[in-house]
This record gives sequence, C-alpha cells and structure tokens, in this order.
Amino acid sequence: MTSLKGKTALVTGASRGIGRASALALARSGAQVLVHYGQAAKEAEAVVAEIRKSGGRADAVAADLGAPDGPHQLARQVRAIVGDRLDILVANAGVSKAAVIEETTVEDFDRLFAVNVRAPFFLVQQLLPILHEASSVVLVSSLAAHAVVGTLPAYAATKGAIDTLVKHFAAALGARGVRVNAVAPGVVATDMSSFAKTDSGRDYTLGLQTFKRVAQPDDIADAIAFLASPDSRWITGDTIHVDGGSKL
Ligand SMILES: NC(=O)c1ccc[n+]([C@@H]2O[C@H](COP(=O)([O-])OP(=O)(O)OC[C@H]3O[C@@H](n4cnc5c(N)ncnc54)[C@H](OP(=O)(O)O)[C@@H]3O)[C@@H](O)[C@H]2O)c1
Repeated sequence: MTSLKGKTALVTGASRGIGRASALALARSGAQVLVHYGQAAKEAEAVVAEIRKSGGRADAVAADLGAPDGPHQLARQVRAIVGDRLDILVANAGVSKAAVIEETTVEDFDRLFAVNVRAPFFLVQQLLPILHEASSVVLVSSLAAHAVVGTLPAYAATKGAIDTLVKHFAAALGARGVRVNAVAPGVVATDMSSFAKTDSGRDYTLGLQTFKRVAQPDDIADAIAFLASPDSRWITGDTIHVDGGSKL
C-alpha cells in the first residue's frame, strides 16, 4: 500500500476491536494516529504505546460520543494536536443492542442513534475546516444495514443512515477533493459480537458466509486502510462490503 508517511489520522473507538486494528494498520503505513476512546483509557494508552514502540506517532484523545457536544469536544482536541490539516478520519466508534421491536426502549433507540449516527455527522461537520483536497473519511456501516441478521432493527437502522450519509457527504465534499466511503463488516470477533466466540455463534456466523472462518478485526482494518489511502483515490460515495461473502 502507498505510504501514509506525513499524514494525520483520527480513529474513533480505537481502544478496542475494529478501531484498534485500524489505528495500528494506519500507523504501520506511516500515519500519525489520534487514538480516540470513550471509557477505556488504559486500552487506548496501550494502543498509543504499541505505535510509539514501533517508531510511530500517536496520542490518545477522549470524548463521550453519546453526549450532544462529544463530537465538538473531540474536534477541538484534534485541532489542538494536528493543527489545520487532518488527512484521514475513521468514524468507527459504535454501540449495538439486540432487541425485538416490542422490547426496544426509547432510551436504547436514542443512544444507538446518538453514538452511531449523530456523532459521525457532527464530527465530520466540526472537522470540515481541516479536511482538505485528498482527505479521506471512512465511516463504518454493517451487513445489518443490507440484510436481516440477528434481531437488531434499531441498530440496523443506524447503519442504514450511515450508508445514506456516505452518499450525501461524498456529493457535498467531492468538489473539495474530500472522499467519503464506508465499510460494511459482517460478523467480526470483537467485544460487540462476542457471541461469535461461542460454538453456536460461530456456527451461525459461518452459516451466513461463503468463507468458513470468523472475521478478525484486521480483516476489516485493512479495507479501512485501503479506503484511507490514495490507492482508493477514485472511490467515493460507496459502501464496501467486507463480510467474507455474507448472505450472497
Ligand atoms: N463486531 C462486529 O461484528 C461488527 C459488525 C458490523 C459493524 N460493526 C461496527 O464496527 C464498529 C466497531 O465495532 P467493534 O466490534 O470494534 O466494537 P467494540 O469492540 O465494542 O468497540 C467499540 C468502540 O467504540 C467506542 N465507543 C462506544 N461507545 C462510545 C461512546 N459513547 N463514546 C466514545 N466511544 C465509544 C468504544 O470506546 P471505549 O471502550 O473506550 O468506551 C470502543 O473503542 C462499530 O461502528 C460497529 O457498529 C461491528
């Protein structure tokens, strides 16, 4: 992959899972990475330490993206560190909750939309002044936006909203040279999909996919790093399915 040396990147939700793997992948390619977290300070500092140990540049930044002003606070911290130029934004932080329609509460619904949709929307808005010609924004959608998997109607709707935002953001920002895309992972072995680590969860997951292994965070991170890099310079407004051939 083309080197990302000299580029600055923010990865939200980089303390664990797909975000952590993405931060490490971008750092391996040479980017200076801001490792965002919500609660898991120790884990985020461990990611920063791992990047620095390999000779890279990284800092941890904290913000609750469930709070209305969380994205604004995060953008202020980012601008204080990188100045007037952010090359890569990976808006990965997310929450999920399985619930049938009857048992979905207003509180759960609002939290899902606050973290998964409102936060990426306002983070892009707040970072617009420092996105520039050749910046790349990568949002994280889900297989659940395109197919009925599990019992996740409210969560799935948040990811449908992400696919819609990708198109509107890409259309609005293309003239400035800013690209906006998403990845749509299938089931990935992280804390969010911990069921995939059980025998029955593994069987369910393999039943969805044409590839017969459970995805690891790196499988998604490499696709995110590709979309973040100039190698994908002619791709914008798209959601790439990174799901091992799920629900074909
Ligand atoms: N795992 C899957 O099977 C799967 C499939 C499709 C799509 N996805 C999507 O991929 C993304 C990453 O998922 P994952 O599986 O890596 O999840 P994960 O392991 O549960 O990690 C979630 C990350 O989001 C951060 N986060 C959550 N709520 C936050 C809040 N209110 N404020 C700030 N940060 C917050 C967490 O930070 P702290 O721990 O520091 O609070 C953590 O770093 C999500 O958007 C998810 O919807 C996952």
